[in-house]
Amino acid sequence: MQKILVAGCSGYLGSFTLREFKRRGFFVRAFARNPEKIAREGPNGEPAAAPLADEVFIGDVTDPSSLEGLCDGIDIVFSSLGRASGDRSHSIMDIDYRGNLAILEQARAAGVKKFVYVSIFKAEFMMHLEVTKAHERFVDELRRSDIDHTVVRPNAYFSDMAQFLVMARSGRMFWPGDGKLTINPIHGADLAGVCVDASSPGIREIDVGGPDVFTYRELFTLAFTTLGKPPDIIFIPLWLVRIVRAAASPFSKPAAEMLGFAIAVSEIDNTAPKHGRLHLKDFFEETVIRRNLSEA
Ligand SMILES: NC(=O)c1ccc[n+]([C@@H]2O[C@H](COP(=O)([O-])OP(=O)(O)OC[C@H]3O[C@@H](n4cnc5c(N)ncnc54)[C@H](OP(=O)(O)O)[C@@H]3O)[C@@H](O)[C@H]2O)c1
Repeated sequence: MQKILVAGCSGYLGSFTLREFKRRGFFVRAFARNPEKIAREGPNGEPAAAPLADEVFIGDVTDPSSLEGLCDGIDIVFSSLGRASGDRSHSIMDIDYRGNLAILEQARAAGVKKFVYVSIFKAEFMMHLEVTKAHERFVDELRRSDIDHTVVRPNAYFSDMAQFLVMARSGRMFWPGDGKLTINPIHGADLAGVCVDASSPGIREIDVGGPDVFTYRELFTLAFTTLGKPPDIIFIPLWLVRIVRAAASPFSKPAAEMLGFAIAVSEIDNTAPKHGRLHLKDFFEETVIRRNLSEA
């Protein structure tokens, strides 16, 4: 039986991917830094990883000494480990790039056969963002390494779409651009299937999105109508958002990075090859109930 290490299993994609590996009969080692977090379900319906895993390995990628033996006996590493905003003492580069590099070093030392890594769809258009740079620096390391690898490139997750429900609940939504570009976000469970398929030999890169394509206007309208509210969406010209970003930049790097991301995805068509069968409409309806969002 092949043995898998899942890094990032307390997060949205990692938890569903761990469950999918287990469902397909693999032996799974869950790598997490917080044992309490993997003992319970997540806020977007993410399955608890600990009860599903065959083994749990506790460590932190910013402390390489805690990773000794992480990949011993492992055939395939899957990593969706990252932190889009960094944390108090570590930058995005520390976690997304150096953290995954520390895992890759463990994998090479242990003779792992395959590394599946989750980066970003159309990264080449977003290389001015720190998060994209960190991801792609790690992809370059993978390409240079002698391990067979696959890079999965999703466009957007349902978990991130939940923030639009929260914005819609406040009554009004602001977004850069004109709302006409399109995107097809994907559910973690559907993407998990693609990630497990990607662990087969030979596949190098996969672009992936969900089954339903929306313009941003349609997407936000769906958030409002799910909440039973009239859509109130204000699209802000990109030039104005760029000025706000430049002004925010000296004071708050995370705010500038977040605005930069919103601008970047409002400048390019974000429609990726369709995969999966789970619908955003159903996810929104479940999220409203799960998070009790209908009481406005
Ligand atoms: N969200 C999107 O729409 C989207 C689109 C394309 C690509 N991606 C990429 O897909 C990947 C997964 O996204 P996601 O939404 O599943 O992320 P997530 O829910 O934030 O999960 C990230 C995982 O990384 C772990 N982690 C962070 N810092 C760590 C550290 N120092 N040591 C050990 N573990 C650490 C987290 O552990 P804790 O729970 O302990 O923090 C968590 O398990 C990310 O790299 C993201 O950039 C996301």
